[in-house]
Amino acid sequence: MTLVTDVVLRRVLDSRGNPTVEADIRTESGGLGRACAPSGASTGGFEAVELPAREAIAAAREHAVPRLLDGVYVGDQRSVDRALRAADGTDDFSRIGANSAVALSMAAAHAAADVLGAPLFQHLGGAFRGDEAPVPLGNVIGGGEHAADATDFQEFLAVPVGAPSAEAAAFANAAVHDAVGDLLADRGIAAGKGDEGAWAPAIADSEALAVLAEAVDSVAADVGFEMRMGLDIAATELYDETAGVYRYGDTARSPDEQLAHVAELIETHDLVYVEDPLTETEFAGFATLTERVGGQPPATAQHDGTLLCGDDLFVTSVERLTRGIEAGAANSILVKPNQVGTLTGAFDAIERARTAGYRPVVSHRSGETEDTTIAHLAVATGAPYLKTGTVGGERTAKLNELIRIEHNA
Ligand code: PGA
Ligand code: ZN
Repeated sequence: MTLVTDVVLRRVLDSRGNPTVEADIRTESGGLGRACAPSGASTGGFEAVELPAREAIAAAREHAVPRLLDGVYVGDQRSVDRALRAADGTDDFSRIGANSAVALSMAAAHAAADVLGAPLFQHLGGAFRGDEAPVPLGNVIGGGEHAADATDFQEFLAVPVGAPSAEAAAFANAAVHDAVGDLLADRGIAAGKGDEGAWAPAIADSEALAVLAEAVDSVAADVGFEMRMGLDIAATELYDETAGVYRYGDTARSPDEQLAHVAELIETHDLVYVEDPLTETEFAGFATLTERVGGQPPATAQHDGTLLCGDDLFVTSVERLTRGIEAGAANSILVKPNQVGTLTGAFDAIERARTAGYRPVVSHRSGETEDTTIAHLAVATGAPYLKTGTVGGERTAKLNELIRIEHNA
């Protein structure tokens, strides 16, 4: 156990070129931990609050740093995170900013691992993690809030369910990304890249699914293991609350039509993973969909039935997840530490999920840095999936860290 002796906060660049918060924590025994906050674009309405980086840093310097310097041990993550909560004093980190909070929380964990001379995943729970590395979910085509004039759905994902290793999965996803680029070029479709490095063509969701299916099939034949498809619909962003409909350009779907549409896509395309198919307040609709497709084939090594994952629905909150469990809504939770502001919050959500049989999927944000904490979190908690893109330095930082962890384990 070692005390915090120095805390530094600074503004650094994220992958969109926006300022984000980086924290350094030093300990009395010479340990150093560093971490950066990520940032969402399609943020859920119930997330902890991100403040402008300058404001978050000023508020954290005033309120959080003195508490961390007042006898907090970096190895006791719950006490670090309790100090952050007490310094903030609100339910949603709106005083010091969830961006400052999560950077400090993760930096403390890195400092503790440094003191131990152990990799972060080991400090966070490596001893009981099992030997299965998480499978990377690869966003290869996308639109929504991550790219203008592209698909309506936010993410079309490669899911290498049969991959023998995380390394094989990461390379297979990158190969799908490459194959999609070639297929789009063959069809004469121009495409830039969205915020997460996925291709962002101005095509219908149905065409994106067709292109992805072709790419996934050809890569699966090449690599010799099973690959499937998934979606992050990010339906909160499509939902027009005033009219009570989901908007797709000029057309609209009622909540019932949206549900039927998603169920049909799952059945037709054998989707193994669907995130946020409905808006963030739709516990009942999620429950209906889960009953319909959540326990049906396709079964994989990771799970039986399609994973219906709540991102904006649960926002890594134990309270919202518990409400979902009681309602039978979804069977999986997306875990983003900055949605809740601390590693303790992320761990508690994963633990709550596990006791109810919900699969935790640890995830990046669209705005990222070279920070690799989520790769360690996914390994430490035995999460079946890590959603962290396919290409681009801030995405490969996590994938390469996962490969290193797997290689050295
Ligand atoms: P965000 O998107 O980081 O922009 O919120 C990621 C997601 O919706 O999963
Ligand atoms: Zn999402």
